[in-house]
Amino acid sequence: EKGGYDYFMLKEIAEQPKAVADTLLGRIDANGSLTLDEVRIPAAVLREVDKVVVVACGTAYHAGMIAKLAIEHWTRIPCETELASEFRYRDPILDQRTLVIAISQSGETMDTLMALRHAREQGAKVLAVCNTNGSTIPRESDAVLYTHAGPEVAVASTKAFLTQLVACYLVALYLGQVRGTKWGDEVDVVVRELSDIAAAVDTVLETMEPVRELARSLAHKNTVLFLGRHVGYPVALEGALKLKELAYMHAEGFAAGELKHGPIALIEQDLPVVVVVPSPRGRSVLHGKIVSNIQEIRARGARTIVIAEEGDEAVVPYADHLIRIPATPTLLQPLVATVPLQVFACELATARGNEVDQPRNLAKSVTVE
Ligand code: F6R
Repeated sequence: EKGGYDYFMLKEIAEQPKAVADTLLGRIDANGSLTLDEVRIPAAVLREVDKVVVVACGTAYHAGMIAKLAIEHWTRIPCETELASEFRYRDPILDQRTLVIAISQSGETMDTLMALRHAREQGAKVLAVCNTNGSTIPRESDAVLYTHAGPEVAVASTKAFLTQLVACYLVALYLGQVRGTKWGDEVDVVVRELSDIAAAVDTVLETMEPVRELARSLAHKNTVLFLGRHVGYPVALEGALKLKELAYMHAEGFAAGELKHGPIALIEQDLPVVVVVPSPRGRSVLHGKIVSNIQEIRARGARTIVIAEEGDEAVVPYADHLIRIPATPTLLQPLVATVPLQVFACELATARGNEVDQPRNLAKSVTVE
């Protein structure tokens, strides 16, 4: 049932190109427009939406952080992303014009369910992004967009995360399309770029041996830090979460701009620091700033593990280890940048003798608050 792999997690990492492609399947028409008729929220209602709130937990929350950036960029609707477990306890401001997106692989996460119940009580419309047909969260939502990742067995979420991203990009583009924003007119361009991503993920998977080797060489370490900016920040958080839950290591993700406000004090000789570098073509300002951050931490002794786009030469002098990913549009980079971090955590867990598919103290779906 593990299809020749030692662990479900490895199988599920390998299935990601297909999962991504399957999540796009049937949702794009011949003109490159989106057909999300399955989201049965009338276009008239979506045109009235004046605020989007994304609620989710853990890895799904990281997908939600990236969704916020895509939604605001492509639709110009204000969007906030919040931990489902915090949401209802702060009396959030919601009404009929609020669209709440609840992201959940299992569809049974109690924190997320309670958040969406609260949102609906306040009159908000709830759209579930979910991987499990007929589960509680989509049943209690106004609408659902299913991720077509197939069953995810390993406790640590991998392919579900990538498909949550794809589904959120589709929702963002669909909102743009329905509302006729600038980006709404260019949906076909972005959709084409999205369609190329499955092949890019495949490319990443084929080049993971050095990442495994690196992970094994770090098995004795106690701490790993992760840095990123913009969409790379949630990717850094996701890399750190994977390492905590699988390798039981102390791992922290930071927004690279925050380094100087405190975390840089943590840098010491030989501390491994993974840096997710934005594309030098997209937000070139951010690229330059991250390169400076890499220089700064390396000057203080950090062992830099740099994830950078193919052809980005500026990082080469400061990277103790360089992990290449294919060039993608800025907002889509998490789909490729997360994959090496999954492989890294999985291999470190194995090297430390941990149970990869069943990490201690964790359950696949968390049905208590
Ligand atoms: C991390 C992980 C968890 C889940 C979280 C939400 O690898 O698996 O953080 O992402 O518990 O679960 P769902 O998506 O089922 O609501």
